[in-house]
Amino acid sequence: MSLDLILPDSLVKAFKTARHVTVFTGAGVSAESGVPTFRDAHTGLWARFEPTALATPEAFEADPALVWGWYEWRRSRVMRAAPNPAHEAIVRLARHVPAISVVTQNVDDLHERAGSRSVAHLHGRLMQPRCFACGTPWRYPDGMPNEPEDGRRVTPPECPECAGPIRPGVVWFGEPLPADEWLRALGAAAGCDLFITVGTSAMVYPAAELPRIAAGQGARVLQINPQATALDSLADWNLVGAAGVVLPALIGAVFDDASPTTG
Ligand code: APR
Repeated sequence: MSLDLILPDSLVKAFKTARHVTVFTGAGVSAESGVPTFRDAHTGLWARFEPTALATPEAFEADPALVWGWYEWRRSRVMRAAPNPAHEAIVRLARHVPAISVVTQNVDDLHERAGSRSVAHLHGRLMQPRCFACGTPWRYPDGMPNEPEDGRRVTPPECPECAGPIRPGVVWFGEPLPADEWLRALGAAAGCDLFITVGTSAMVYPAAELPRIAAGQGARVLQINPQATALDSLADWNLVGAAGVVLPALIGAVFDDASPTTG
């Protein structure tokens, strides 16, 4: 799909003069890859549970097979997905600006698979599980999980060190963000001159503080989202549309760098 964007001069100038761009992404960026968002992943076996009731340490302790099965289902969906033009446009943007930081709330690895480096994952990484008891990292066996469409209960593997249950490498509700990634994200928000928030409702804190911190430090804020969000009034520019359409068209127009997907 292609899009002819009419861009304000001020936005083009902000890109051309930026010394450090921070891109802050959420579930909307992976949506066009077919990765179910947190709420969309709430079907089949999981439909009768509130997602927020599955994504907690308490839920895992109460019923590890139910929660691990849900994450195996999500992992199988992510492994079948491929990066989309939004992920790819962020990689292309990196070639045109002196410095870029990518901060995501997504637990998938699609930014990395597209070619982004040093992505700060505020809500953890689906592909990096660890022991619930002792924290020892655990590696998935090679190969693709093949979970049924409606999901199923799966007993978590045992930690080879302490026999504790292996848990997903994500941040659950009630847990702190990984300190090093959060510090990097804070630095990226406070130190950038252009902050792009894309595909996030910006409602889950503390991640949602980042655009506000950036704006407070004087950065210009661009939002890309097909729907209204809590950031509409904070953003200097709101580009309304799907990330996989708007981002490639934007990078193509500003830097005269058209990808095959921008037609
Ligand atoms: N392109 C851009 N944005 C999109 C697209 C798209 N194709 N499709 C949907 N969106 C937008 C929606 O309009 C919405 O604003 O993506 C946003 C998704 O919002 P959320 O589901 O709240 O996702 P996110 O902001 O990433 O949530 C943050 O909350 O669910 C928890 O831990 C989970 O990391 C997640 C966090």
